[in-house]
Amino acid sequence: MTNPYDIAHRASLADPEAFWAEAARDIDWTKPADKVLDGSNAPLYRWFVGGELNTCYNAVDRHVERGRGDQAAVIYDSPITGAKSSLTYAQLQDQVARFAGVLKSQGVDKGDRVILYMPMIPEAVIAMLACARLGAVHSVVFGGFAPHELATRIDDATPKALVCASCGLEPGRIVKYKPNIDAAIEHAKHKIGSVVVFQREQEVAALIDGRDVDWATEMAKAEPQPCTPVAATDPLYILYTSGTTGQPKGVVRDNGGHAVALNWTMKTLYDIAPGEVFWAASDVGWVVGHSYICYAPLLRGATTLMFEGKPVGTPDAGTFWRVIQEHDVKALFTAPTAFRAIRREDPNGDFVKKYDLSGLRALFLAGERSDPETLKWAEEQLKVPVVDHWWQTETGWAICGNPLGLHQFPVKHGSPTKAMPGWDVQILDEEKKPVGPGQIGALVCKLPLPPGTLPTLWNAEQRFRSAYLDEYPGYYKTGDAGFIDDDGYVYVMTRTDDVINVAGHRLSTGAMEEVLAMHPDVAECAVIGVADELKGQTPLGFVCLKAGVDRPEADIVKELVKLVRDEIGPVAAFKQAVVVKRLPKTRSGKILRGTMQKIADNQDFKAPATIDDPDILPEIEEALEGIGLAKNRNK
Ligand code: COA
Ligand code: AMP
Repeated sequence: MTNPYDIAHRASLADPEAFWAEAARDIDWTKPADKVLDGSNAPLYRWFVGGELNTCYNAVDRHVERGRGDQAAVIYDSPITGAKSSLTYAQLQDQVARFAGVLKSQGVDKGDRVILYMPMIPEAVIAMLACARLGAVHSVVFGGFAPHELATRIDDATPKALVCASCGLEPGRIVKYKPNIDAAIEHAKHKIGSVVVFQREQEVAALIDGRDVDWATEMAKAEPQPCTPVAATDPLYILYTSGTTGQPKGVVRDNGGHAVALNWTMKTLYDIAPGEVFWAASDVGWVVGHSYICYAPLLRGATTLMFEGKPVGTPDAGTFWRVIQEHDVKALFTAPTAFRAIRREDPNGDFVKKYDLSGLRALFLAGERSDPETLKWAEEQLKVPVVDHWWQTETGWAICGNPLGLHQFPVKHGSPTKAMPGWDVQILDEEKKPVGPGQIGALVCKLPLPPGTLPTLWNAEQRFRSAYLDEYPGYYKTGDAGFIDDDGYVYVMTRTDDVINVAGHRLSTGAMEEVLAMHPDVAECAVIGVADELKGQTPLGFVCLKAGVDRPEADIVKELVKLVRDEIGPVAAFKQAVVVKRLPKTRSGKILRGTMQKIADNQDFKAPATIDDPDILPEIEEALEGIGLAKNRNK
C-alpha cells in the first residue's frame, strides 16, 4: 500500500531537484537558486547554486514580520540555578541584531569565523544567530572540551573573534571557562584579537585589557545590524567532530540546503507546527544542538527550549517530566543514555506519574543505538510514539527515522525505521557489492546526499574525499555497519572505525591514544570502548610501559586519567586504564582492538588467523579481570 512516505521517498530519489525545489518554497530567498542541484563536480555536489538568503532572517525576522513577534521563540529553564525565562521572537530579533552589532564592532564580517564556547544559555543561540545574521561562520566548541581541543579548533578555523560565557554549570561544580580560553588562546598559533565574555553571576571572570570585552557593556552601545544576504552555498557554520585521529574534522554546513532541509524535517519527521514547543535536551556544542535547539525549531516558527541540567540529579529523575508539563512540550528529543539514567533511578516510573504529560506527542532518540529495553520502557512510561532515528554530525539531520508527519510506521525495536526521503541507504560487503536483506555490511548512502548534509570539510577537501567518498565510489561512507531487513527497516549496529560513543557523545579512541602516548612512561598504548550500562560505552586504555619503569602502576594510571582529562576534557569520561606487558597484534603490527573489546565485553571471539602471538590474549584477560571486566571468560 502506498502511503505519503513512500510517495515522498520515491519522488525524492527519482527527481531530487524537483523534490527539494518544492521544499525550498518554505524558505525566504533574496534570490532564488539558478540550479537546485549542481552535480558538475561530482562526487562533490552543491545545492541551490546561485540562490541567496539569510538564515537568521528565516529563523527570526520573518516570523516577527508575519505576526509571531509576541510568541516565545526561546524558553530557558535551568534546574541548576533555578532560573527560567523566555524570549519572544521580537525580543530575540532585537538581541540578535544587537549582538551582530557587537561582533561587527569587533571586526567580524561576512565570511569571518567566530568560535563560541558557551553553556546552555540563550546567549549561545543569540551568538549563533548573530553570526548567521552577518554571514559570519560560527564554530561552537562544547564546554566539556579542554584547552588543547579548543586550541586545535582555533588553529583550524582561524577565527576573528571568540565569544564565551564566564562559566558553565555542572551539578555541584562551576566550570570556569575563562581560564580554559586564556590557555587555549595562549597555546594556539593563530592569534585571536577579540574575546566577548558573557559574565554569569556564578563566576565573574577577569578580563584581559585590550582583548576581552564585556557582553553586557557592548550590547548597551551596539548598533543593531540587518541581515546580510549570503550565497546558499556559503558556510553557515563549522562543527568539529571526532575522526580516527586527534585532528578533529571540521564539518561544514551551508546556508541554503541547511535551511531547506531542517525546516522540512520539522514538519515531516517531528510533526511540529509553528507555535508549538519543541525540546531537544542536548547541548549547543553538538550537532543536535545546532540543528534542533537552534536552527530547525526557529526556522519553523516553533518555540525551542533550552535546558541547562541533567536528566537525573537536577534535582531528580522527574526533571524532564516537570519541564514537559510546565512548558507544554509537544516533542522531546534526547539520547537513549538519558533514558537509561532516568530508568535506573526510577524503574517503576513513579516520577512520571506525578506530572501531566498529556501534551507530549512523541519522544525522539538519537546519538547512539537505542537498546530495545530502554525504548520499550520509554514507550510504556510515556505512552507516546518513541522514534529512534539515526544521524551524524556530518549529515545534520536524520538519515533514517519514523517520519511522524508523513506516515507512522510500526516500530521494530532496535531499528531507526526507514531511510528518510532524500536518502538512498544501502549495505555493501567487503567487495563493495550490495548484500541481501538481513546481511550485515557497511552502511552507505548513494550520492548525491540531500540538502543540509556536509558539502566538504573545512579547508580539507582531500580529507573529505578520503574519509567519506573514496572507499565506495558513488556512495557516502557513514562509518557505521548494519543491515536492512525484508521490510526495508534499517538496523545500525556498530561503527567500523575507531570512533566510540560515550553517553551519546562521539569520541575518538585515536585521539585518546595520542594523549596516552605523551606520558613519559608509556611505550605503547591502545584505547577501546567497553560496554557500559549507563553510557553505552566507556573508554578503556591499555598501556605498555617503557623498559626500566618501576613506579607503582596505580600512580601511572592516575596520571594517565588526569592527562586525558586535561588534554581532551572531562567529556572523554576516561577513567580506566590497565598496564599490560604486550599488546595483541597482527603479524603486520596492527593492534587487535576489536578482539580486546570482545574480551572486555565477554563476547565470543576467535583469535584472528593473522595474530602474531596468541599467548598474549590470556594476559589481556587477566589484566581485564583485575579491573572487574572479562569476568566470565574461561570460567
Ligand atoms: N562543560 C564541562 N564539563 C562537562 C560538560 C560541559 N558542558 N558536559 C559534561 N561535562 C563533564 C561532566 O561533568 C562529567 O564530568 P565528571 O567526570 O567530573 O563527572 C564528564 O564531563 C562526563 O559527562 P557525561 O558523559 O555527560 O556524564 P555525566 O555523568 O555528567 O552524565 C548522563 C551522564 C547520561 C546523565 C549525561 O551524559 C546525559 O544527560 N546525556 C545526554 C546525552 C546528550 O545530551 N547527548 C547529546 C547528543 S543527543
Ligand atoms: P554524532 O556525529 O556525534 O551524532 O555521532 C554519529 C554516530 O552516532 C553515528 O555514526 C552512529 O554510530 C551513532 N548513532 C547516532 N544515532 C544513532 C542511532 N539512532 N542508532 C544507532 N547509532 C546511532
